[in-house]
Amino acid sequence: MKQINTIRTVSLLIVVIALSAWQLPIKETANNKKGDIAMTQQEKHVLPDLPYAHDALEPYIDKRTMEIHHGKHHQAYVNNLNNAIEGTELANMPLEEIFKNMSQYSAAVRNNGGGHWNHDLFWKIMSPDGGGKPSGELLAAIESRFSSFENFQEEFNRAGATRFGSGWAWLIVDDQGELHVTSTPNQDNPLMDVADVQGHPILGVDVWEHAYYLKYQNRRPEYLDNFWEVINWDEVSRRYQDAR
Ligand SMILES: [Fe+2]
Repeated sequence: MKQINTIRTVSLLIVVIALSAWQLPIKETANNKKGDIAMTQQEKHVLPDLPYAHDALEPYIDKRTMEIHHGKHHQAYVNNLNNAIEGTELANMPLEEIFKNMSQYSAAVRNNGGGHWNHDLFWKIMSPDGGGKPSGELLAAIESRFSSFENFQEEFNRAGATRFGSGWAWLIVDDQGELHVTSTPNQDNPLMDVADVQGHPILGVDVWEHAYYLKYQNRRPEYLDNFWEVINWDEVSRRYQDAR
């Protein structure tokens, strides 16, 4: 009986040791995997949801354009940005910080980092309840800087219409709190050290053909005229206050 008990105890010990030995690497692997996934998720940029339905900006910006622009173009910038910065020092850095030293980084980071940031702003400064004029301090600052809101509209439209090829027109606030209208090529923006005129964008319009071609074809000025009908001035004013 004593011998049987000894055999049972030894067998049990062997099973326990075997299980421990088998479980340890499994646990470690599971923890490592979990850690990697969590870290990866932290590092990855993600496509922001549109703050309204794809057809919400009709008739000024059509549903199909919004579907492709947000779901395909913006998604591609996000994916390509993640691929470009994966495993580098830029993976955990805010885009605004990267832009300050943009000239030191690759074209892939510049084009896709800019593409992601610019479109994120673009969706937010539009609204189906937009249009009209700003109010309060922003309207006063625009009137002071450009003589009138209408003059500002003209200058902004001209910046968008005359930007050769693809790019963006912007209303920015500089370090002194002054407003300026400017434009940038491709997916550059005024936060980048490579921009001719630098400052903090509070309003921007995408003048890439992918933003308007399905509805407006080559009529970029008509698209720019209609853009005013969807500007979310509450959001632009909020950004104006933040930028100052
Ligand atoms: Fe775009």
